[in-house]
Amino acid sequence: MTDFSLIIPAAGLGVRSGQSLPKQYVPILERPLLEWTLSTFIEIEACRQIIVAVDPEWRREGEKVITGFVKVVLVDGGKERQDSIRNGLSRIKDELSIVLIHDAVRPVVSPELIGRLIEAVAEHGAAIPVLPIAETVKRVRAEQVLKTLPRDELYTAQTPQGFDANLLRRAYEHAMKKGVQGTDDASLVEALGERVAAIPGESDNIKVTWPVDFERVEWLLRSQQATSKSAE
Ligand code: C5P
Repeated sequence: MTDFSLIIPAAGLGVRSGQSLPKQYVPILERPLLEWTLSTFIEIEACRQIIVAVDPEWRREGEKVITGFVKVVLVDGGKERQDSIRNGLSRIKDELSIVLIHDAVRPVVSPELIGRLIEAVAEHGAAIPVLPIAETVKRVRAEQVLKTLPRDELYTAQTPQGFDANLLRRAYEHAMKKGVQGTDDASLVEALGERVAAIPGESDNIKVTWPVDFERVEWLLRSQQATSKSAE
């Protein structure tokens, strides 16, 4: 696997999760969610550097999570996710030509998906995991259906998303100059007119957003633990 660096945006305050602390610090099976996410990447030798963007007010929590993880550093997050990643990008080591970006709140990402993603980035320069949509999607405005969208062309985007480091730097510079705000990183590369490859995502790689997601993630992590114990 080609060596890569990883940026984890973990500076959100997670108001939708119904928790009293940001969701990335909520303990699940006695470890903060962020630690679960980090642990998968820590095990991968090709992952040479991990930059975690944290809200300055929550830096102490972030420090507690990364204690003992040598390849992990913290940077200050920004107002929006995009600002947090821009701060992380400035710290990437020059010799690492592939950058992955992964949400702190997706703790059930598999090493297999990361491997497939790295291969796709090495080949195409930019790649993201996607999942097909099961339901019919409508465009709605002012309580009126405007249009039914063609479902066979619609997918949801996950992280990790992977990029050639120079391409991502260019995309962020362009977004800054033109005031582009994206809800993911690939959309900033798309705004440059560059192609992004789509690879199959994983249905278990959920983004913890709502209160019910904590239960699902706990169940998934528990079954993962049971599988790795029985393999020992
Ligand atoms: O808020 P949302 O669930 O979309 O956040 C996705 C990821 O981006 C989370 O891991 C969150 O901590 C991070 N984020 C960030 N800086 C912000 C807002 C969100 O790093 N200002």
